[in-house]
Amino acid sequence: MSEQNKEYTEAELAEMSRDEKMRLGLALDDVELVEYQEQWPVKGTRAERRAERNVAGWFVLSGLSALAFIAVFVFWPWDYVPPSDERGYFIYSLYNPLVGFFFGLAILAVGIGVVQYQKKFIPHEVAVQQRHDGHGSDEVDRQTATAILADAGEKSGIARRSMIKRTAGFGVGAFGLGAGVMAIGGLVRNPWATTGPESLQHTGWLSETGEKTYLRRDTGNKHEVSLLRPEDIDAGGFETVYPFRESMRGTEELETSLRKGDAPVMLIRLRPGSKPVKRKGQEDFNYGDYYAYSKICTHVGCPTSLFEQQTGRLLCPCHQSQFDVVNTYAKPVFGPATRALPQLPITVDEDGYFVAKGDFIEPVGPAYWERNA
Ligand code: FES
Repeated sequence: MSEQNKEYTEAELAEMSRDEKMRLGLALDDVELVEYQEQWPVKGTRAERRAERNVAGWFVLSGLSALAFIAVFVFWPWDYVPPSDERGYFIYSLYNPLVGFFFGLAILAVGIGVVQYQKKFIPHEVAVQQRHDGHGSDEVDRQTATAILADAGEKSGIARRSMIKRTAGFGVGAFGLGAGVMAIGGLVRNPWATTGPESLQHTGWLSETGEKTYLRRDTGNKHEVSLLRPEDIDAGGFETVYPFRESMRGTEELETSLRKGDAPVMLIRLRPGSKPVKRKGQEDFNYGDYYAYSKICTHVGCPTSLFEQQTGRLLCPCHQSQFDVVNTYAKPVFGPATRALPQLPITVDEDGYFVAKGDFIEPVGPAYWERNA
């Protein structure tokens, strides 16, 4: 009876050595070893030790990079510093590049270490397996598979390469720690605990000094200030507007306020007779038929720059989300967006110009992990 067809008893299996079980496992699987070549037939040569140091070096580099990543992630000053403070801004602007660099280097180095180990220490082996239906009992399969795995582990030489084991543990462990710090780090600070200019929810519509914030249209000339009055927009019309304060005149902010990603607002004049359902707590955010909504789509942040007068919907061209401003407070009624567009509270001042009554009361842009309105 061939090895494949024989029924092995537990006693017979117990008597077999690991090598015999491994050979039996290969025979049961119809595997033939065509070529087998040890990488280091003579153990302990200088070349082998050099190869070991090379692999260990990559793991050490990975571990050090992961530790540097953790140090930067936790301790580097990441609070926003305006460009007017050149040194502070330079240090602040290094935060993201450094985090990315060290995290990327940690992954790269551990990857190169594993590849180098495979190339330098795993024996070259060519095996051919025939199609077969499978043989043997569960117990035979279990024991022969265990023997094959143990044999592969031994031939890989990892057991006797303590330097590589230690450095790989350091590299992979530090990298795992870094990944854990990164996952938990973002949850440590409550973004709602801070209000004001440095908070996550603040946009260019926030007036830090209480100065009046006008609604300004973009004429294409960044130095021109064109403010809006109610009569400037026809019924059913709209205009994209940006924040403007008198203190911006003659400063760089006059131009940068037109480029701030969270600033654009769609000022819409609904047709007379429209009676949208107002959002609870925002009943006085509109001025008559004039409603102002963030232009940043709550799906992934494209500009919702199309207003369809007949249906009263704001359309986002990116993934076709539609927000109903005639019947509701810009709630999404079609497409992937799930949140209403934030509404900017507006009124008209004593000179007849539109002004913002304050900042948005919720974050603008893509769906946010926590909203309070
Ligand atoms: S970004 Fe607007 S629908 Fe996707």
